[in-house]
Amino acid sequence: METRVDEIAERIYRLSTFLPTVGPKGFTFNQFLIDAEEPLLFHCGQRSLFPAVSAAVARVMDVRRLRWIAFSHIEADECGSLGEWLAAAPNATVTHGAIGCAIWLNDQAPRPPRALANDEVLDLGGRRVRRLDTPHVPHCWDAGLLHEEATGTLFTSDLFTHIGDPPALTDGDILGPAMAAEAHFGYTALTPATGTTVRRLAALRPRTLAVMHGSSFSGDAAPLLESLARFYDDSLQRGVAARG
Ligand SMILES: [Fe+2]
Ligand SMILES: [Fe+2]
Repeated sequence: METRVDEIAERIYRLSTFLPTVGPKGFTFNQFLIDAEEPLLFHCGQRSLFPAVSAAVARVMDVRRLRWIAFSHIEADECGSLGEWLAAAPNATVTHGAIGCAIWLNDQAPRPPRALANDEVLDLGGRRVRRLDTPHVPHCWDAGLLHEEATGTLFTSDLFTHIGDPPALTDGDILGPAMAAEAHFGYTALTPATGTTVRRLAALRPRTLAVMHGSSFSGDAAPLLESLARFYDDSLQRGVAARG
């Protein structure tokens, strides 16, 4: 198992492990490293990936420099190896939204977490990330995303998930492949608030989307997010109409 490293925006690294047996055509599991004065890792990866992913981080910087560990929601690919990362990086603190800390981390994390409020900014030294609460988007009550302000990078977690092993970064279509993956996996917790939540992300006008499964996107991402919001609204309406 090997983890690839690609710089997708200035000093933002995508760590990507392709697992060929997951899904119909294999699946990538991507973590992202912001190499600031206080480096932040977004997503831990499953425990089984830790040796490969930590070796990939070590190709960029000393793992012990990690200061922050963040993720979108409680799931093995998002935070399964949290304990391993906290052991490998003694100065690292896990940070998450208030709900996630209350329902999970305050009890389960090896060290106390730093809770971030919705819209709160975490200063990494030379970089700043804003926490955005997105409950149940893409799924799980504790879900939230980060937006890095200098590069305009939105870390989308499972939003725009697509299958296979596509390029690290693309300016092409990721919405079509994401809609196909949604049809295959049905992973989104669709609620009346889903479209509105995604439109709030579009208002940030991100220039890079750091996607957890599939290619990251470079370009004007607001129209993509608006289209994704419409797709969710339409899906919900179809579901309600089907009930009669
Ligand atoms: Fe997930
Ligand atoms: Fe995921």
